[in-house]
Amino acid sequence: MTHRIAILGASGYTGAELVRLVATHPTMQIVALSADRKAGMAMAEVFPHLAHLDLPVLQKIEDVDFAQVDLAFLALPHGVSHALVREIPDRVKIVDLSADFRLRDADAYRKWYGLEHGAMDIQPSVAFGIPEFYRAEIARARITANSGCYVATSLLPLVPLLAAGAIGAEDIVIDAKSGVSGAGRGLSEAMLFSEANEGFKSYGVAHHRHMGELDQELSKAAGQPVLAAFTPHLVPMTRGMQATIYAAGDADAARKVLAERYADEPFVQVLAAGQVPQTQHVKGSNLNRIAVFADRRPGRLIILSVLDNLMKGASGQALQCANIMLGETETAGLTLAPLFP
Ligand SMILES: NC(=O)c1ccc[n+]([C@@H]2O[C@H](COP(=O)([O-])OP(=O)(O)OC[C@H]3O[C@@H](n4cnc5c(N)ncnc54)[C@H](OP(=O)(O)O)[C@@H]3O)[C@@H](O)[C@H]2O)c1
Repeated sequence: MTHRIAILGASGYTGAELVRLVATHPTMQIVALSADRKAGMAMAEVFPHLAHLDLPVLQKIEDVDFAQVDLAFLALPHGVSHALVREIPDRVKIVDLSADFRLRDADAYRKWYGLEHGAMDIQPSVAFGIPEFYRAEIARARITANSGCYVATSLLPLVPLLAAGAIGAEDIVIDAKSGVSGAGRGLSEAMLFSEANEGFKSYGVAHHRHMGELDQELSKAAGQPVLAAFTPHLVPMTRGMQATIYAAGDADAARKVLAERYADEPFVQVLAAGQVPQTQHVKGSNLNRIAVFADRRPGRLIILSVLDNLMKGASGQALQCANIMLGETETAGLTLAPLFP
């Protein structure tokens, strides 16, 4: 059976990554692609690296014929999806890459995104899109809210450790770094080569939108309120993300918890003691690699977690969710080895 796929926001980075993945998926066919300012253009004009593919022309969302669509990826800015979902027929499944359905609380959405949520009545039926934690919910859901990229990087190690009581819920510090593609393709001065290259800076200090998701999911895992410190940084590389996490706990015990928890997971690799994960070793793949080290301060540990922000941090994970929602093999279209060097 072939699933008919629409990718809304296909002229953006996560949309293009979805096109790259879905185009060679064994049971998916791209039937519609949308853009906003670039509507009317061919994908080959917008993304010449995809010119070899036979793809539909980019169209406005309102011109997409959803009668021909089985599943839609929404690779759109936050604030667009919550207004759009009611316009899409109920029979169409949705994987939303934006933040619009990740937060379970309207006040939290207002606090972190500065917007009134237009579809909070739908939110309780939405699955949170990290398959390693919500596989059964994703399989049942009509809508899945793909997690934020920093959130996936942080939660994949932290949730099992908090749930097992292997780290303390107090005093978790997440020091995170992202490549510039994390900001999307939209023009911004801070992302100009001359401003991002050969530099390193923090942003969203003490108030970053992903804190809402982190609070929600870390607290759920711990069974008590968790407020982790979180500071993101911009690194002058195109793809890749690392969270360096400091917490209380025993490193060997924590590594054992993670190794057992992820033994059967295809995309999460827990490294042996002493090995250091690198963004270069996951680039272009759906892999998350995690290492745990003992801090020299007794009773403290250091976790290193890396992934590709456009893959396990966005489009790869979105395809993983879509595979589950459509009853396909979860790894379909996602087994390519990382691109190295
Ligand atoms: N980049 C990442 O690493 C990453 C990781 C995780 C999650 N996300 C999330 O994924 C979503 C997409 O991110 P991105 O990096 O792909 O962004 P992007 O490169 O800026 O692309 C945005 C896409 O949405 C379209 N668009 C913009 N405004 C629109 C509107 N009002 N109505 C309809 N379409 C509109 C754009 O069309 P035009 O090109 O024609 O303007 C473009 O196709 C965001 O919510 C982002 O937070 C991104």
